[in-house]
Amino acid sequence: MTSCAKKTENPHIAHDIHSYANPELVRVRHLDLDLNVVFEQQTIQGTAVLTIEQYGRDAKQLILDSRALQIDETEVSPDGVKYQEARFSIGRSDKILGAPLRIDIAPDTKFVRIRYSTDPTATALQWLSPEQTAGKLHPFLYTQSQAIHARSWIPLQDSPGVRVTYKANVHVPKGLKAVMGATNCTPADVAGANCSFVMDRPVPSYLIALAVGDLAFEATGPRTGVWAEVPVVAKAAAEFSDMEKMLEAAERLYGPYRWVRYDVLVLPPSFPFGGMENPRLTFATPTVIAGDKSLVSLVAHEMAHSWSGNLVTNATWSDFWLNEGYTVYIERRILEELYGPRRAEMEAALGYQDLQDELKSHSPADQILHVDLNGRDPDDGATDIPYEKGALFLRQIEQAFGRPKLDIYLKDYFGHFAFQSITTAQSLDYMRAHLFTGDPQLAAKIPVEDWVFQPGVPASAPVPVSEAFRAVDAQGAAWLEGKAIDTTGWSTQEWLHFLRGLPLQLDASRMRKLDASFHLTEASNDEILDQWLLMAIRNRYAPTYPRLEEFLTTVGRRKYVKPLYEAMDLKQASAIYEKARPLYHPITQATIDALVTAKTEAANQ
Ligand code: BES
Ligand code: ZN
Repeated sequence: MTSCAKKTENPHIAHDIHSYANPELVRVRHLDLDLNVVFEQQTIQGTAVLTIEQYGRDAKQLILDSRALQIDETEVSPDGVKYQEARFSIGRSDKILGAPLRIDIAPDTKFVRIRYSTDPTATALQWLSPEQTAGKLHPFLYTQSQAIHARSWIPLQDSPGVRVTYKANVHVPKGLKAVMGATNCTPADVAGANCSFVMDRPVPSYLIALAVGDLAFEATGPRTGVWAEVPVVAKAAAEFSDMEKMLEAAERLYGPYRWVRYDVLVLPPSFPFGGMENPRLTFATPTVIAGDKSLVSLVAHEMAHSWSGNLVTNATWSDFWLNEGYTVYIERRILEELYGPRRAEMEAALGYQDLQDELKSHSPADQILHVDLNGRDPDDGATDIPYEKGALFLRQIEQAFGRPKLDIYLKDYFGHFAFQSITTAQSLDYMRAHLFTGDPQLAAKIPVEDWVFQPGVPASAPVPVSEAFRAVDAQGAAWLEGKAIDTTGWSTQEWLHFLRGLPLQLDASRMRKLDASFHLTEASNDEILDQWLLMAIRNRYAPTYPRLEEFLTTVGRRKYVKPLYEAMDLKQASAIYEKARPLYHPITQATIDALVTAKTEAANQ
């Protein structure tokens, strides 16, 4: 077999400043997990068996990432049958990175078994009490591994450049059901049984995900469906009933769906993100269930990651724009397929506004797509800039080369790099070789270096224009002149544009009039409500404060919560945060802790 020689070859791997691991010498290829979920002690305990591949004979140690893990025992084996205890040490713990876990290995070591348990402070895990769930009867646990939180619940090489296949056995208390971003046990499996999961396609660690709760499933099509708490599942399935069509549209554009099933798990409202693209099982906030499908762009987004992100993955967190910029572009293409160009252009125009706002509030260095994250938490890089600037870059390429060419190019790109993690440089080299060389004159119109390595956006950047929003602008102007306006048939996007277009400062009578005419304090759409709450804080419109407090003590989605705390003064922010903090995921807690600390320091100066 020629594969012997191949085995010792060291496949190229990009250096990742956010991992202690040494994949250039030893790489983890497969993971076998056996986990017990213990709600009473807020811990996951069990074993992880890592299948490793060594390159050369000088590794001596397997270095893994860990954060607040208790390591009980480490063993090594050449065959996965006979294990021998191995020495390990845990290095100094860094606030951002956690601590390296070093395990002694022999030249013939192929398997490393680690007995461990997680700490209640694990940054990936949120343990919810029954009161914090929709059903109110059972506790709930879920993970959020992106960007570098997987290391707080599994000892592994926590770098997006390292891909593993995995199997997991998860033991949960009777009455509860476990799900993972993997092949799930069938819905018919009784709750409380041991569930086995398989992910047979290599994935980066940030996509490993688990949730446990009183969960039910409802199909939305042959390959798609929804998991949610029992009281939520029917409404969620109705909201996401277009998923099967979305999947077909995405496949028509970018090639076959490579993950077999696409399901969505709707989490309790404390989930810190809108969505998380865990393969085969997107995790989603319930705040997108508006009742009218108006916020399903989130599903289009997470589904798009099945190509950009999960299939072709950013090699390091500085390459994050490769995941998110491509995904936002694809998200809008999927939306256009399903709901037409009018809707897609409104979303693009809203995104463009977001980008303009973000550019104003970030330093030139942070406006660069290939961002420098030295000494920083990669979660800090997750601004709107990689999303919207990245998408605008692709939009310019679309306009220059035309859709047919770009579509074929992207399909090839996903096929070529499937199941690989790539750097910004690799992606640009491929683009030059397979798109730009074909037409140097068109290529000259795209200032690639400016897009990727310079702040701001190039002067030649396209500006998405929405005809629908022009009409809204006219109505907004009329409203400010005190005229009655006609808002019948407005979509969520039109409402958002209307509200965002109003002056930042509005006096009490205008705020009252807005609320009385459009019932904004009672808005059931969280995107509109969030925008209104922000306006209420800015203009000290007190009648909305009880609703503000109710919102912040139920919803933990960082995109909503953070700007609201930012806008409040210290007194109001700390009063609400004191009540709300216990309800948030550790990731949201960390964000708001820092924000309140900064406000306190500013107040004491
Ligand atoms: N992968 C991201 C979420 C993420 C980014 C988690 C960085 C941790 C670190 C996900 O795909 C995403 O972008 N979610 C968005 C929603 C989307 C519609 C823009 C969100 O959560 O707001
Ligand atoms: Zn995304």
